Amino acid sequence: MRRYPSIVRRGAATVAAASLGVGVYAGLTLVNSGGSAAAQTVTCDTATTPFCNSLVPLPHNWMGRVFKLNQTYPAAAPADAQPWLAFDPKTQQAQYIAAVLTYFYQGNTRPSVEDSFDPTQNTVRQWYNAPWQDFGLNGREPIHGLTRERVSKPHELDPHQASSWNNYAVGFYNAPGGVTIGKVWANHGSPNAALASMPEGTVAAKLLFTTASVTEVPYLQGAPTWNAYVTADPHNGSPKKATPRAVLPVRLLQIDVAVKDSRVANLTGWVFGTFVYGGGPGGPAGSGWTNVAPVGLMWGNDPGHTGASPLTQTWLNPAVHMPHVGFQGRLNGPVDNKASSCLSCHSTAETPAGVMIPPNGPAGAPWFRNIPSGTPFDAGRQSMDYSLQLAVGLTNFKTTGAIHAAPNHAALTALMKRVDAASARPARDGGRH
Ligand code: HEC
Repeated sequence: MRRYPSIVRRGAATVAAASLGVGVYAGLTLVNSGGSAAAQTVTCDTATTPFCNSLVPLPHNWMGRVFKLNQTYPAAAPADAQPWLAFDPKTQQAQYIAAVLTYFYQGNTRPSVEDSFDPTQNTVRQWYNAPWQDFGLNGREPIHGLTRERVSKPHELDPHQASSWNNYAVGFYNAPGGVTIGKVWANHGSPNAALASMPEGTVAAKLLFTTASVTEVPYLQGAPTWNAYVTADPHNGSPKKATPRAVLPVRLLQIDVAVKDSRVANLTGWVFGTFVYGGGPGGPAGSGWTNVAPVGLMWGNDPGHTGASPLTQTWLNPAVHMPHVGFQGRLNGPVDNKASSCLSCHSTAETPAGVMIPPNGPAGAPWFRNIPSGTPFDAGRQSMDYSLQLAVGLTNFKTTGAIHAAPNHAALTALMKRVDAASARPARDGGRH
């Protein structure tokens, strides 16, 4: 039987929390009783401690890599190259996104695949992880800090794909983004959402890995593979707290990038792009980190587009043929919901949290506006400047506060029911809100 960390804290609700097994929701003092004879005690995610790396205990006798959240957020960003500035995102899309990928890869890809993208080993530039992505059923696993993402249903990834497969991801911010994360979270017990504006030159990048097999998704052949401590059954798209985990190989499927670029400030201020491993269905054979092809780039949501005329704010790579992209041909990634788009979903980054996935029909139009950086999706809320990790982190922080403040067992049980229902689908599927 797998044991979850229990919470060591005085007070009725906390004792009740421990009996409900809500350790994965509440990062206080965790006693990791799995494995070693001497229990390890880790205190994290409190007002006076560092942020947690992961709330999931490592597998029994694990000797491999362990994820460490890079939370040494800088006060100021050092001078750095911005190679994408040599290209116009609206007309030189392929060169632009290639320059961003090269920048992200520098110092991050290493001879050892398992050691790649470890910020502590990067001597070129620092990358930082956002806090509070450790919460709940989809929270960071302990080996690479991967969160559970949207499930890929049959045929979404490839015509050969017969089963549903779980996906997992980890995101990074460069130093300009790290400065903002550090400002918002300077007080670990009282984050300041009003400081969430990302500076020019911010780059966020996210590696998405899939449990899908090479048989069902042939273009994954040769993909860099990580070990991750995730739901043992890769087809189980709705794991519960007691669902067994195992160390599974997960393959690189998708790479997301987002760049704050003032040349598109009149639209959203952001350029979003994505890559697929091996060039997608029918793509060329290859191997290693560089065998990826851009699916496309978007710098606006093409408001008012009806699907008839060509899009003017999305570029799709004509050499890649994914089974789907986003709504009416706007950009979305292999893992993403085709009812939406990168900038659509990210335009909802606000606190209190917004609704990510548009409703069907004309009611969905607000999800395809060009909302300028700094303007919230819903009037009266605080914009998180297209950062859903900041938005999700604040929601998780507040929910954890509510768990700790629950006055009694009944209140806590009711709250946990709502939290479990909300996290039954991962955030990227729009299920959390
Ligand atoms: C339906 C919603 C949704 C769609 C569509 C979506 N994302 Fe995200 N994305 C999220 C959520 C939620 C997070 C934060 C939690 C996480 O990282 O899992 C996130 C995180 C990210 C991050 C890390 C930094 C940040 O902003 O939080 C990047 C970079 C990113 N997404 C890029 C993309 C790109 C590029 C696309 C399109 C190819 C895309 N996203 C499509 C929901 C979405």
